[in-house]
Amino acid sequence: MSGPWSLAYDGYDPGQEGLREVLCALGNGYFCSRAAAPDSQADGVHYPGTYLAGGYDRLTTEIKGREIENEDLVNLPNWLVLEIRIDDGPWLRPDEVEYLDYAQELDLARGILHRRLRFRDGSGRVTRWVERRLVSMADQHVAGLEVTIVPEDWTGPLHIRSGLDGTVVNSGVERYRELNGRHLETVDRGKADAETVWLTSRTVQSRIEITEAARTRVFAGGEPVEPGARQSEVLADLVAQVIDLEIDAEREVRVEKIVAVYTSRDHAISEAGLAAREKVAGAGSFDELAEAHATAWAHLWEQFDLGLDLAGEAALTDDAQVKLRVHLFHLLQTVSQHSIDRDVGVPPRGWHGEAYRAHIMWDELFIFPLLNWRYPVLTRALLRYRYHRLPAARRLARDAGYRGAMFPWQSGSSGREESQVLHLNPQSGRWIPDDTNRQRHIGSAVAYNVWHYYEVTGDREFLRDYGAEMLVEIARFWASIAEFDQARDRYVIRGVMGPDEFHTGYPGADREEHIGLDNNAYTNVLAAWVLNRARDVLELIPPCHGRRLCDRLGLADSEIEAWDEISRKLFVPFHDGVISQFEGYETLEEFDWAGYRETYGDIQRLDRILEAEGDTPNRYKASKQADVLMLFYLFSADELRLLFEQLGYPFDPQIIPDTIDYYLQRTSHGSTLSRVVHSWVLARANRQQSWRLFQSALDSDIADIQGGTTPEGIHLGAMAGTVDLMQRCYTGIETRGDALHFNPSLPDGLERLRARLRYRGQEIDFEITHRRLRIHCRQFSAAPVTVAYRGRFRQLGAGATQEFHVIGPAERDRSEPPPNASDPAHGTGTEGSEPDDR
Ligand code: BGC
Repeated sequence: MSGPWSLAYDGYDPGQEGLREVLCALGNGYFCSRAAAPDSQADGVHYPGTYLAGGYDRLTTEIKGREIENEDLVNLPNWLVLEIRIDDGPWLRPDEVEYLDYAQELDLARGILHRRLRFRDGSGRVTRWVERRLVSMADQHVAGLEVTIVPEDWTGPLHIRSGLDGTVVNSGVERYRELNGRHLETVDRGKADAETVWLTSRTVQSRIEITEAARTRVFAGGEPVEPGARQSEVLADLVAQVIDLEIDAEREVRVEKIVAVYTSRDHAISEAGLAAREKVAGAGSFDELAEAHATAWAHLWEQFDLGLDLAGEAALTDDAQVKLRVHLFHLLQTVSQHSIDRDVGVPPRGWHGEAYRAHIMWDELFIFPLLNWRYPVLTRALLRYRYHRLPAARRLARDAGYRGAMFPWQSGSSGREESQVLHLNPQSGRWIPDDTNRQRHIGSAVAYNVWHYYEVTGDREFLRDYGAEMLVEIARFWASIAEFDQARDRYVIRGVMGPDEFHTGYPGADREEHIGLDNNAYTNVLAAWVLNRARDVLELIPPCHGRRLCDRLGLADSEIEAWDEISRKLFVPFHDGVISQFEGYETLEEFDWAGYRETYGDIQRLDRILEAEGDTPNRYKASKQADVLMLFYLFSADELRLLFEQLGYPFDPQIIPDTIDYYLQRTSHGSTLSRVVHSWVLARANRQQSWRLFQSALDSDIADIQGGTTPEGIHLGAMAGTVDLMQRCYTGIETRGDALHFNPSLPDGLERLRARLRYRGQEIDFEITHRRLRIHCRQFSAAPVTVAYRGRFRQLGAGATQEFHVIGPAERDRSEPPPNASDPAHGTGTEGSEPDDR
């Protein structure tokens, strides 16, 4: 990295190429292209991949005698193709030349990827290659590639090939390669005019038609080269133009390739092919596009950037600032203003690769909080992805014998369950049954996201038109899956999984007889919370609308009363003074962490290691990721106390640090989400450890800490989660009682934090140091809001500033009970108090 706005690499390293392709991928919320070299092909080192947001297709493959259907994010025709041939030599490929200089840099401020290379080809000629590329944030359908070629020590014929390659298949994830990956068929291709070729493809099953049109202009010594020197190449699935030039040493040739991408799913077009050809014909030069694109990025950064002043050693060694920008950059390339009308969700691995087939999972829970406070209209749109799939979730519930809506663990185009039924363990080479779809907690994540969107925005219209129906149907599902256990006088939820994917069932259980686990604490407590919110929402929306909703859904008063009863009687297991991950957890064996670390080094994916040994993590007290601890991530100590009391369980505050400590020692962090959660829950109790985990979460993708998963796609939950740690956790920001509460506790490594957020229609700038909190409201006509610091309330109107003296951790420790227990970041005692400074 060099500088606070740049992700830079020096030298060519084939082993790192997949990682760089993902970390330097360019996208705009509509489509995304990996940063593959334009002269590369998929070959194990390079993987040109272009993906449309929500561009899914289903194919069937026979595995172990079973027909397996998978819905993939389709790899679209490669628009980058730009390669050169000197004289009568071969088309040059990245790995067939000798690099004398190689630098690659992603300019995060302007959204431009630069590559500057010097190479010697097989005949000893030295050539310079200077490249810029963009995927426009200003015009979602446009991308551009500019390459300047300079012969250093040769003169003679140069051939340039610029094309669109529809021969691509989905083969980006090695363990999926046995599955059918040819999702595209070419519909037609051709030449639109002297400078432009186009290719129309269609996905095999979902029948999305995609047209790419490419306009290529060539300038030699600054002058356009006559189009006469071009030949078209029209193959079955590929179209290109070959441009022949005579070139002198040290005389530069600049190639400008502007591409338009449209699909049959786009709005405001007649037909994708027509739209793409028209767009590219009217598009400006690369420089003009780059300017509009940079302005769009500048506007995004105004809304999303965070300013950090790092202290002491952290300031010298730490590049947290740029890493957070990389995270924001990829988040905004995955979901942006261009996602708003697109019926897409937010994929945990971005539209950057093929991992998890870009299915939509619970990772939204780590992403929406960031968006709620920055760009709530985006969360609103992404929540509607779920709303549109309520009928499918109802169908899933009904087919499983339940009422209400059961959202699928993995959701793609239609909202049916897209989780794999078999998955390949690369460590053993075996295909094994995949039960992870029993993570019914996904429905509560949807409900939580609806509720928190409402809390931050106050958008009752959304609740009334969409949110209430989702909450009610999810609550209905929980009420119907919960069974009454007479002996306990409690409700139980059997046969599910918590977030920890190492525990899919009981050791030795016959899958036919008992699948999943019983009474996962996270699932049960969240179910109680959802049942509460569903009743609240019916109070919040206008009564006539509530009546219409109940009529429509056939929701009787008796059903709502039953929710109250269930929400007070759900069973939560405990053992040894901590909350049990699930019922029976205490009977599992302790795991030999030290022994396995010694044998295997990296044991993040213990599930694969154990399966390869013929064992299973189901036998051990060993978690892949935070499960019970998710409760402390999502809820304040006070909220949890109230929930447990409502459930009839005493809640000694000491249970929080004890439970954190217990699971911290038994977690492998095999999911990148895990460090975010642990860093969060330790933020007040153990600041140093929280900061260390935060820094390691920052490296999840940049350093590919899982050793090979990032080339398959970014980890957006960890990316957004780390920014949110800054935004909400270390600042102690939350909404309660119609006030915006701050309660900062900056880590020692952080001297100052500046950011901007939106709250109830206002834009608020804040700056926090260890001693001072300054909150400023920008000029805008929205109503004043109430801000608070540790029980001191102030009105904040447009243009006004409020300052508070921040007390340090020592003072705070003196004035408060221990860790998290009454953590005022999560609110103690101030609820319902009257603002003192109105
Ligand atoms: C985690 C899940 C997560 C998924 C996608 C898995 O490794 O266990 O919790 O939803 O990755 O990020």
